Amino acid sequence: MTKALEGVRILDFTHVQSGPTCTQLLAWFGADVIKVEKTGEGDATRGQLRDIQDADSLYFTMLNHNKRSITLDTKKPSGKQVLETLIKECDVMVENFAPGALDRMGFTWERIQELNPKMIVASVKGFGPGPYEDCKVYENVAQCTGGAASTTGFDDGPPMVTGAQIGDSGTGLHLALGIVTALYQREKTGRGQKVLAAMQDAVLNLCRVKLRDQQRLERTGVMEEYPQFSDGKAFGEAVPRAGNASGGGQPGWVLRCKGWETDPNAYIYFIAQAPVWGAICKVIGREEWITDPDYATPRARLPRLKSIFATIEEWTMTKTKFEAMDILNEFDIPCGPILSMKEIAEEPSLRETGTIVEVDHPVRGKYLTVGNPIKLSDSPTDVTRSPLLGEHTDEVLAQLGYSAEAIAALREERVI
Ligand code: COA
Repeated sequence: MTKALEGVRILDFTHVQSGPTCTQLLAWFGADVIKVEKTGEGDATRGQLRDIQDADSLYFTMLNHNKRSITLDTKKPSGKQVLETLIKECDVMVENFAPGALDRMGFTWERIQELNPKMIVASVKGFGPGPYEDCKVYENVAQCTGGAASTTGFDDGPPMVTGAQIGDSGTGLHLALGIVTALYQREKTGRGQKVLAAMQDAVLNLCRVKLRDQQRLERTGVMEEYPQFSDGKAFGEAVPRAGNASGGGQPGWVLRCKGWETDPNAYIYFIAQAPVWGAICKVIGREEWITDPDYATPRARLPRLKSIFATIEEWTMTKTKFEAMDILNEFDIPCGPILSMKEIAEEPSLRETGTIVEVDHPVRGKYLTVGNPIKLSDSPTDVTRSPLLGEHTDEVLAQLGYSAEAIAALREERVI
């Protein structure tokens, strides 16, 4: 069976997390991804957060599946020549170096265009053009500058970052979409183009609803679904942190379940969706709320949400999160147990769909990874292990037309 991106060759000049997540997705869709790494050391993440001495870290292995690795010193003249050959032979170059690094290496957009006018050059940078464009950026910097941190957490606490890597992996996802879109356009124009995904922009895109709320706040001075409203607190000038309140128009909160005293994840997310209000009242034994004018309509409930959720919690605390999930789903009441990473890793249905995959590695042995979260019916994903450093250097150079002698000379010169 062919893969969606079969025949597309990617010069993967990425490192750390944001770029590698993008090229890993493209590899899962069938592109030939050639990861170019610094001679001798490779992607810094190979050695970061190691759990097994001398084995590539999980940080690296989980971001670089299905790729080939070559080592290349692109600052030496003969290394630059190899890179030039790669540029001529590849469809897309993906990079996430610090701003200006590619230019300093001698590979400006103009130079790349000269070598291959069809080349798509896709970059992750921390910021788009503007006052911060020269800054180096990591995950949490993007979460803070893209609006996520100021809107995450509780209003009596500091801004919070989230565990979901929306700055790195989130930007990688955006870049992957930009790349396939540029490839599609190239089919018609025959030309390459630059694709830029700035981490601040990607995070802000994911925080779109908070910019919506900023404008609502400026117009009306109040947002009734925010906990500040039912707490009787004044709103300030900017969108406040909403704790665990639901982002949409349906009120929600995290509630304790049986066992919460000892299990930090014995909680359920409960949504008091208006169409199932009657069912909620019956399940928790408060049928009088169905007709009580103080509770019967969403508007009447808004100032009372805190006490309503406290009452619902009295019920959820008598059930485990899974028992509560089963009962509530019988009545179509939207809810979700707070699943720990341990529970997710052990969940059989995620193994069956290939969302959690066990991979074998020659140095580290078996490990779990997250497979391709995007399923194509005609282009299934087979997750294969990440490459060892420089594992495919000879193979790739031979494919590019380098003789065994030429490869030996590059090795002698420590270019590869
Ligand atoms: N051979 C020789 N030199 C190489 C090379 C190779 N194969 N690959 C990279 N280099 C060089 C670069 O040219 C650069 O040299 P220069 O500083 O002389 O121009 C140098 O290695 C370091 O690259 P840089 O990207 O600056 O790495 P860093 O470790 O200092 O910074 C980041 C890391 C992530 C902060 C930075 O790359 C960045 O801001 N990237 C964009 C945003 C991003 O993706 N952030 C999220 C990361 S998950």
